[in-house]
Amino acid sequence: MDYPIREFAMGGGILIAVVAILHVVVSHFAVGGGLVLAVLETAAVRRDDRPMRDLVKRASKILLLLSTVFGAISGVGIWFTIGVVHPAATSSLIHTFVWAWATEWAFFLLEVVTALAWVATWEKVSPRTHLLLIWLYAFAAFLSLVVIQGILGFMLTPGAFASTASFFDGFLNPTYLPGILFRTGACLALAAAWMAFAALRERDRAARARLSRVLGAIGALGLAVAAAGWIVWERALPGSVQHLFLGEKPLLAALATGRTHTFRVLLVAALLALLVTALPRLQSWPIALLALVASAGVLAGYERVREGVRKPWVIAEQMFSNGVLLTELDTLNEKGILSKAVWATKEAGGREVTMGEAVFRAECSSCHTRDGYLGIRKIASAMDADFAAMFLTALRDDGANWKARAAGQDVKPDYPFMPPFVGTDEERNALAGWLASLNAPQAAEVAGAR
Ligand code: HEC
Repeated sequence: MDYPIREFAMGGGILIAVVAILHVVVSHFAVGGGLVLAVLETAAVRRDDRPMRDLVKRASKILLLLSTVFGAISGVGIWFTIGVVHPAATSSLIHTFVWAWATEWAFFLLEVVTALAWVATWEKVSPRTHLLLIWLYAFAAFLSLVVIQGILGFMLTPGAFASTASFFDGFLNPTYLPGILFRTGACLALAAAWMAFAALRERDRAARARLSRVLGAIGALGLAVAAAGWIVWERALPGSVQHLFLGEKPLLAALATGRTHTFRVLLVAALLALLVTALPRLQSWPIALLALVASAGVLAGYERVREGVRKPWVIAEQMFSNGVLLTELDTLNEKGILSKAVWATKEAGGREVTMGEAVFRAECSSCHTRDGYLGIRKIASAMDADFAAMFLTALRDDGANWKARAAGQDVKPDYPFMPPFVGTDEERNALAGWLASLNAPQAAEVAGAR
């Protein structure tokens, strides 16, 4: 099935990243908040600890707003953006995992209902009933993470799914558990970092220090779990993915740098958490804010790396990020990409679209913008039409390498972060001409100067 193409000046990937990172940070707050609040409220009831109970109560409204309002809205926002930017992949994931999505929906519903009931019933129901509500919330929120992680992991490491097409092979994939470990740690760290502000509002100095210490310890624990989860996650990746960002000469240097920076940020967050645990009286707004930003940065950095190393796939070993399936390379080389991507020639703001531009829209615009992120005008600036045609031929031949690798052979594609070019010779030449034409004015100037 083919879908209309919507180009964004900033690049569809960046748009998804902006919406997704907001959602991811908030949803991890919501999950971690549930766990931490449930544990702390239980401790407060058991020990009749008034300041602890007040802390939980102060934090409860924010939890409600974050999970039911912001989490829900930004979650819908993700569906909108991925539906527009990657319609084919969205459809494929819905079809493969329809019951997982349904389960996720049910847990989210339980999450919203229990959050509302919990916040509304302070002092109105028995402590036991109130505890039951927050534990139900924590359970539902955590299980929604457990479900989503199956699908996110599948997109990068489909495991045995390629040969069995079994739901559970795809869902319980090689990075499933490591991802859950990392995310659980990140959830705890974020929740503790955010609740630190609620602790600072405690008037009594001794109580304030005690609460800050507890939260600092939870934050440090969360960050340690996250670091361990990340390392285990990296080990669970196939070698071909590890080569992209690990080792001496990573293929995607920017992602390797991003990883290093994220680990530094993690270290800063962990040191702050340990500092507050050891010397809780030092806890203050600036420190709490720095710890919060750093914890969110760890999560954002992980998501960036995870999304980045999936290139050139949107669903690994199945669908390239331009919607082309591994199984249809030969057909499309014979019949042409435009036999499938009929929308690529249409709807470009009412303007006439040449064949070359249409091929670009169909095959390249999921990653390259014209002048923004991975801007093609700049990237192709040294290419004349002949050179571009040669490049595209090499890129088309790379398809054989992708197929061999998916069949389990130890083959390295020449362009490990780009899908193979597909299309007829006519389409290839049209795209080559279009790429060369992008810098034609400059070329003409040079010619004039001669
Ligand atoms: C999966 C995303 C993705 C898709 C789809 C994609 N590219 Fe790329 N392309 C990249 C990345 C990433 C780079 C590396 C950029 C860098 O090194 O800074 C790149 C680099 C390039 C380069 C420079 C090559 C080199 O050897 O340095 C050219 C030219 C290019 N792309 C053209 C295209 C064309 C034409 C298409 C469509 C047929 C396309 N790309 C599709 C991601 C993609």
